[in-house]
Amino acid sequence: MRLSQPALHKRIKKKNTRIKAISIIIIIIATMSHNILITGVSGYLGGNLLARWKEANLAEHYDKLFALVRTPAQAEAVRKQYGAEPLIFDAYNEAEVRKAVLENNLSVVFHLIAPATHTSQVYFIRAMAELKEKTGNEVHFLHVSFLLFYFVWNTSFEKGLADEM
Ligand SMILES: NC(=O)c1ccc[n+]([C@@H]2O[C@H](COP(=O)([O-])OP(=O)(O)OC[C@H]3O[C@@H](n4cnc5c(N)ncnc54)[C@H](OP(=O)(O)O)[C@@H]3O)[C@@H](O)[C@H]2O)c1
Repeated sequence: MRLSQPALHKRIKKKNTRIKAISIIIIIIATMSHNILITGVSGYLGGNLLARWKEANLAEHYDKLFALVRTPAQAEAVRKQYGAEPLIFDAYNEAEVRKAVLENNLSVVFHLIAPATHTSQVYFIRAMAELKEKTGNEVHFLHVSFLLFYFVWNTSFEKGLADEM
């Protein structure tokens, strides 16, 4: 079907408006502000991440940087040395994790606690899923753990150990 000149212009204008609207939505999503939490900041990985954070020049991509600490001395250090907002809560208590995530809108979490168990990670993931449902914004959870390899030799002692495992 051939369109008349005015009808063609009208259709192009409508299409451009739609493209503009989509572009605006993409820009809003791309620049959506995140609040970030780093845990384990007194440790090797978390401490290094926090110490080198400013070098990465990410300020325009997030709103607030929080650091989970366990003592008032750590709280003062992260605030004064690194400009992070300290948070004190028990990462192994589900209600406390949920409260911290929802109240502070923690949409990005670097979980760098040396874990005794992995329950804390589950609490964060659940709370962040709830945050995503409430806000409609993306959430990102990164956690570092370890791998343990068992080498079992065919000796009577280690065979006994293997049977136990
Ligand atoms: N270092 C590496 O090269 C490496 C490589 C691969 C994987 N990993 C894994 O990455 C994780 C972190 O390693 P890392 O070397 O950074 O460990 P790290 O130096 O021993 O630091 C552990 C951190 O976890 C915190 N923490 C421990 N229990 C906690 C709790 N119940 N609540 C809140 N914070 C707690 C400690 O805080 P406090 O100071 O308050 O105790 C400290 O900040 C571990 O799972 C490790 O296996 C590390």
